[in-house]
Amino acid sequence: MNTPVLADFSYDPFDPAVMADPLPYYRVLRDEHPVYYVEKWDTYALSRFSDIWRVLEINDGTFVASEGTLPAATVLAKHNAGPVPDPPLHPMPFHANFDAPIYDGVRRCTSGQFRPKPVAELADRIRELANERLDELLPRGSFDLTQDYGGIVAASVVCELLGLPVDLAPEVLGTVNAGSLAEPGSGVEVANARPGYLEYLVPIVARRRAEGADGGLPVADSLINYRLPDGSAFTDIEAATQMLGVFIGGTETVPKIVAHGLWELSRRPDQLAAVHADLDANVPKAREEMIRYCAPAQWFARTLREPFTLHDTTIEPGQRIITLLASANRDEREYPDPDEFVWDRPIERLLAFGRGQHFCLGVHLARLEIAIMVSEWLKRVPDYRILGDAASRPPSSFQWGWNSVPVEVPVEV
Ligand code: HEM
Repeated sequence: MNTPVLADFSYDPFDPAVMADPLPYYRVLRDEHPVYYVEKWDTYALSRFSDIWRVLEINDGTFVASEGTLPAATVLAKHNAGPVPDPPLHPMPFHANFDAPIYDGVRRCTSGQFRPKPVAELADRIRELANERLDELLPRGSFDLTQDYGGIVAASVVCELLGLPVDLAPEVLGTVNAGSLAEPGSGVEVANARPGYLEYLVPIVARRRAEGADGGLPVADSLINYRLPDGSAFTDIEAATQMLGVFIGGTETVPKIVAHGLWELSRRPDQLAAVHADLDANVPKAREEMIRYCAPAQWFARTLREPFTLHDTTIEPGQRIITLLASANRDEREYPDPDEFVWDRPIERLLAFGRGQHFCLGVHLARLEIAIMVSEWLKRVPDYRILGDAASRPPSSFQWGWNSVPVEVPVEV
């Protein structure tokens, strides 16, 4: 598998060949070039689990997402002469571009809703949404497991959390999917995609402001009531911009993991039978392997504010690192036989949700949704066939995941 890659090795996250299948590149990076310099982007790619684990736990201002956590090629093309300062407070971009205390303060506005207790209270509703979808889909006999099942359920949960009517879930799903498609050579043009997203989010903020923002819709209301350290408040557009993480993160990752995970189980009847034997006990274990094996996000970026040395390479202020989380998930130094799907593999440490300052805000919701969607599926669909030849995983530097997984189920007559 590695031969063509090794013959004349170079790695660029936006190279069409990398975007089409990054895994062989990651293996070479881990083995031969754990701190790989991509000159064109003045960026170092970190690929080993232990290095990424160590770097992401450093929250002392050495690594800041001042150019965004997911910069497009146009941003990386500009080489910095030194540290990149925080952007101006207004108009405020997505808060991840700031360091503490601004980043932390704004993140707290959205994070309250995603703590373990409020998330656990969503379980019954998520189960209901999953079963409503299955009621509609199963009689059809064939449909798309990513989009039609997990996609609609996850987008419906996002709609309810953000204050949009659930009928909009298919539209929201389509909009987020379209925004995440990456062009070879340039990455994700998030800046272009945002106006489409804001058309949904700005009216929510305007409505809640008019209604008094009394806390009834926690994400929007806490953003409206938040005051920055200089005493200023967000405009509607600024508040809506801070909701993008939930809008995008909540919609696009979970469905790909659920569909791909169910596919991997179906290819291994012994593993499927083992999970089936006790869904309550075994789905949570299988879920962790699904997240490790199937998580589609490839990497996130940070820009250095202080010099940092790793494996004898010193990275200077203004240069960037990209943490190849998808490589860490397949690092043989952390997980024996990492390219095998093993439903009950011991997973002591996981980087799929990131680590440290930017650790996934939706981690508890993601785990709950995956467990419920997998369980409800396995309860109701003991026998299913994935049409693997028709499945599609579009090239991407950002979300390299199974966007479309056609499935056939027996139709009862
Ligand atoms: C299994 C599914 C998911 C995975 C694997 C995942 C993964 C990640 C990762 C790796 C990051 C860190 C990015 C960085 O280091 O720069 C992140 C951040 C984030 N995730 Fe998730 N995510 C998932 C589901 C969700 C869900 C359901 C939500 C819904 C709320 C969500 C919302 C966010 C937000 C808002 C951030 C940005 C946090 C910040 O910068 O303060 N994610 N996610």
